[in-house]
Amino acid sequence: MAGSGIAGLSAALAAADAGAEVTIATKASLEDSATGFAQGGIAAVTGADDSIAAHLADTLTAGAGHADPAAARILVSEGPDRVSDLIALGTRFDRDTDGALRRGREAAHSAPRVLHAGGDATGAEIERALARAVRAHPAVAVLEDALLVDLVVDRGTVTGALVQIAANAELIEFPADAVLLATGGAGQLFSHTTNPGVSTGDGIAVALRAGAAVADLEFVQFHPTVLAHEVPFLVSEAVRGEGAILLDEHGRRFTLDAHPDAELAPRDIVARAITEAMRTQGGRPVFLDATAVASSDQESRAAYLARRFPTIDRELRSRGIDWASEPVPVHPAAHYLMGGVATDLEGRTSLPGLFAAGETACTGVHGANRLASNSLLEGAVFGTRAGRVAATTIPTAATLTSTSRPVATRRNRSVSPAAPPTAFSRAGLQELMWREVGLVRDHAGLTRAADQLTAWRGESRSPATRAEREDAALVEVATAMVDAALARTQSLGAHSRADSPLALAEAS
Ligand code: SIN
Repeated sequence: MAGSGIAGLSAALAAADAGAEVTIATKASLEDSATGFAQGGIAAVTGADDSIAAHLADTLTAGAGHADPAAARILVSEGPDRVSDLIALGTRFDRDTDGALRRGREAAHSAPRVLHAGGDATGAEIERALARAVRAHPAVAVLEDALLVDLVVDRGTVTGALVQIAANAELIEFPADAVLLATGGAGQLFSHTTNPGVSTGDGIAVALRAGAAVADLEFVQFHPTVLAHEVPFLVSEAVRGEGAILLDEHGRRFTLDAHPDAELAPRDIVARAITEAMRTQGGRPVFLDATAVASSDQESRAAYLARRFPTIDRELRSRGIDWASEPVPVHPAAHYLMGGVATDLEGRTSLPGLFAAGETACTGVHGANRLASNSLLEGAVFGTRAGRVAATTIPTAATLTSTSRPVATRRNRSVSPAAPPTAFSRAGLQELMWREVGLVRDHAGLTRAADQLTAWRGESRSPATRAEREDAALVEVATAMVDAALARTQSLGAHSRADSPLALAEAS
């Protein structure tokens, strides 16, 4: 098992409970993952005023018609049971005084169904409970500071993993009946991201190198509201769910022009509306105005915001922002990768013996744009499914569904003479990806990115240190992402092509 967010830990517990001996290799500490950063919550149907059908419809609508309905149905139907499992493991979700689970509202949800913990520290609380259970499980061994470097493949079947313990150490081979990739996404591809430093696409890169099918890598979700500050910070969508609005620097509520649901429209629409508003005001950030959140006779707005969003409140105030009385400057940032290693509904990939779950995987549940707070849910539901199957069956390859399309095989390109390549640096890669493969793309920019990546791949030597291996993984994933983005010439969901025939017709 590689990775220790909600998908990896859920898979480890499920596999161990099914009788397997499990080793989790994770490249930092067990608790260090994108899961721990999740604020808003985990979406699941828990109220009598809500329904599985409504959650399914919202998931498919947000996914822009590209989600796999069978996968999405499993996600929303099994979600409530996985939430019960998390509660049984000791996750303390926020509750009303009568004990009922508190439910928040987030964009593109037709009902309040987002469970939260510690106000806005949901991921950290889930990670705490899962990590404690994993550490206590007699059949699970934890290997921290252990970077997944490659898969061991014998005659087409994955039979183990190569792992580097500590930054400069030799590689160690771990034989395994099954290897499950749950190393999260690749937010570190972009110069603006909500993701932690560990999100360098390691699992997707090893799968690509081993020849596993990947899908939908062109679909990157950009979170609309990240604090514009030298130390950026995610300001949860749940804040807009509580009534905060978005304003440009002239005080205009520009999202009203973008969608009837304004700030609570699907995330890709809100993020692009912000990008367009920023373009018209010289690139300066827009404002998230939480002074629109209602106060009551019983509680001032400042007290309410501090109680409902203690982490955000602390972070903003530590940067000198009193958000109860002044708007917060925000801009979009890379947040979540909808695509990944293509899997079937039980986490099998196209390589026998290799499984994937969570953000590393592409189950098809998110389509072209993930519904808010469905990511923790996916980790719990499909991590559990994959762990159970990995523990109990002989290795077989997935029969992939039509929506889990492998991306086109990488093309060999020569570098365009018009664009002299620059020397590789992580920051240079992140700036290139933000500029050319960001919220709005076109053929010319994607080609410039592809040329630069080709040049970097050509100059790369065998990586040895951890940082070099992460850089190699990022370049590998970036290359596949750019190929996928070039291949999809029409805009869909989070993949927006300024030069798609439709966009050009609208502009003329
Ligand atoms: C947020 O709290 O806005 C992020 C939640 C998510 O990505 O689903």
